[in-house]
Amino acid sequence: MTGAAGFIGSRVVEAAAEAGHEVLAVDAPDRALAPGAARRTWDALTLPKVELDLASADLRPLTSADVVVHLAGRPGIRSSWGAEDDIHRDNVVATRRVLAAAGGRVVVASSSSVYGSAGRDRPTREDDPLAPASPYAVSKVAAERLARRCPDTVVLRYFSVYGPGQRPDMAFHRFTEAALAGRPLPVFGDGRKARSFTHVDDVVAATLAAVTAGVPGGTAINVGHPEPVTVRTAIGLLGRILDVRPDIENAAPVAGDADRTWADPSLARDLLGWTPRIALADGLADQIAWHREIAPAVL
Ligand SMILES: NC(=O)c1ccc[n+]([C@@H]2O[C@H](COP(=O)([O-])OP(=O)(O)OC[C@H]3O[C@@H](n4cnc5c(N)ncnc54)[C@H](O)[C@@H]3O)[C@@H](O)[C@H]2O)c1
Repeated sequence: MTGAAGFIGSRVVEAAAEAGHEVLAVDAPDRALAPGAARRTWDALTLPKVELDLASADLRPLTSADVVVHLAGRPGIRSSWGAEDDIHRDNVVATRRVLAAAGGRVVVASSSSVYGSAGRDRPTREDDPLAPASPYAVSKVAAERLARRCPDTVVLRYFSVYGPGQRPDMAFHRFTEAALAGRPLPVFGDGRKARSFTHVDDVVAATLAAVTAGVPGGTAINVGHPEPVTVRTAIGLLGRILDVRPDIENAAPVAGDADRTWADPSLARDLLGWTPRIALADGLADQIAWHREIAPAVL
């Protein structure tokens, strides 16, 4: 399990162990976008673990695994501009090396950003054309292409994941911390962008299902909530949960950030038996509770 010090990976590895899988957690916390948070998560992890830089280390520890769940990488559209070398190294080179080292199935984390923006008339399906619009999205397309050539790979296209432990650069994390501190919420653009926000526990469930499901090799599968919500609407929900009227501070939109993502999760239902269960209002309350109770001790 790579990326085990990360936001999503740390929850997947714990859930996999709880489900009875024998796990080995792999990460190089110093390579994380938020190395301080990753290092704390890594140090707190009590499962078997090995620190390996996947872009350069000897990856023999992965060879004997029945399944490698590969979530390590450098996420984020905004921070990918100007960081092309790191992006290529940690998303493409690392994935190529993991695919070469693995002896069995590899479940690879990809992203809704490979599609560019969704249309207005229908959600995005896996066979829709890809239109990556940032160095990050381009790297995810490249990693997918390498993965889909291999005999037993499942590519999961995650859509805007949120929930407890969310990365500090992500929107709900920044909004919640700002609201709790009485500061205006930093919004890139005018708040009209819509996202298929997907709770991390739903993402964990889809990822664990992909470990064992009968899926044809090289299949890409959307892991996203089917109801897109605008950033403005999400901020309204956040204000109601916190019982505050949030001030907003608009900043320039981020280049390459899609106007809309909108997942069609039918293939995930058919192949993984997975349907997202957590509504945004409940999931956001869950994330806010984490910021109130746990984040102050770990951030
Ligand atoms: N969070 C989201 O909304 C989202 C959406 C779509 C796709 N994804 C993808 O899901 C995966 C996990 O995302 P996340 O939000 O948990 O990110 P994260 O940054 O919290 O976790 C990624 C982890 O990968 C590790 N890593 C990076 N380079 C490494 C290397 N060379 N060797 C070993 N470990 C390395 C980091 O240390 C970090 O702990 C990523 O592949 C990301 O692109 C995330």
